[in-house]
Amino acid sequence: MTSPFESRLQSELNRRQKTGLLRTLEVLDACSINMISNDYFQLRSHPEVIEGAREALERYGASSSASPLLSGYLPCHQQLIQQLMNWKQKPAGLLFNTGFMANQALLTHLPSPKDLILADRLIHHSIAQTLGKSDTRFKRYHHLDLDHLEELLHRNFNKYETVFVVTESVFSMDGDYPDLPRIAGLKQKYPFVWILDEAHGTGVFGPTGGGLAEEQEVLDTVDILVGTLGKALASMGAYVLTNSNVITDYLTNYSGELIYSTYLGPPQAGAAGAALKIIRKSQATARSIRDTAIRFREKLRSGGWETNTFDSQIVPVILGNPDDTLELRNKLLEHGILVGAVRPPTVPQNSSRLRFSFHSGVGETHLDEIMSILNSWQRR
Ligand SMILES: Cc1ncc(COP(=O)(O)O)c(C=O)c1O
Repeated sequence: MTSPFESRLQSELNRRQKTGLLRTLEVLDACSINMISNDYFQLRSHPEVIEGAREALERYGASSSASPLLSGYLPCHQQLIQQLMNWKQKPAGLLFNTGFMANQALLTHLPSPKDLILADRLIHHSIAQTLGKSDTRFKRYHHLDLDHLEELLHRNFNKYETVFVVTESVFSMDGDYPDLPRIAGLKQKYPFVWILDEAHGTGVFGPTGGGLAEEQEVLDTVDILVGTLGKALASMGAYVLTNSNVITDYLTNYSGELIYSTYLGPPQAGAAGAALKIIRKSQATARSIRDTAIRFREKLRSGGWETNTFDSQIVPVILGNPDDTLELRNKLLEHGILVGAVRPPTVPQNSSRLRFSFHSGVGETHLDEIMSILNSWQRR
């Protein structure tokens, strides 16, 4: 007999099923081109990245086997955080096990009940999930709308001890991004603490792949940079980089995400360190990934598809309806092309979309093939 507890869970699942929003786990390895993955430089199988993982594996073993505050913090972790600090020109840094945990740690432990958090309306779930869970007040500004952010700063800045402004650089579901120099300008007028999530900007933007903040020359103004090792860096784990040792010391003392979890494995650290070295020299590849994505957007718009005009590697094709989105995803998959079918609640209601994640393995012939599948589905 089903318990009341399971009945409650089942009825929630039924509700999702009825609206076409049920999520399931699938093994999707039988595709010729994977445009869901965030491995923008196709480095996870690169010989130097595998060698980096192997070296760390052989030297330090398969696991760090302890929290970093016990014996889990190994030379491979120290080397990696130093490489990241040099790359992004920040004097202090910490590795976390995932980007999700890093964001949870930052937004859970740094703000106090006397503070205010101002976050972009479409901020990643790893941040959104923390809002409202503590005594810290928060407000969301309209997506990328810095006039709205300014208005909220103007109305609220003096009422709180510290104001935090939190945004992604390249947004994970839309591939669009804010005007970072304008945020830097606002920070001069209202000295808030700026947290920037560069999960998707890293590698693909900036003259050394250092991210959108590097490209838009505001790296020194960002107080806390967060990024994952699980995307362009072809591994797993994350980093928090700051201008201040006080912030990293505080997290080391108060962040349960860091203190009470076995630290990321040596092979992950070794792989990310090797990928980082490759990415720093890969700006021609990054340019070509973005150029291909720009051409794809142009083809989409001339075919009457809804997308945006940004120049990042993430291209949304907005269909609105979740059933259409899944159907078209499956049509592409029949041709061996794997793309993301992203539906609410990951994205707002009526904005279900295909998410194309461009990488170094996608070329002009793929664009033609994809457009011909999209257009024939449209004419069906
Ligand atoms: C903007 C953003 N932040 C954080 C994360 C979480 O990173 P991780 O996959 O390392 O947990 C993601 C991953 O989807 C992301 O897109």
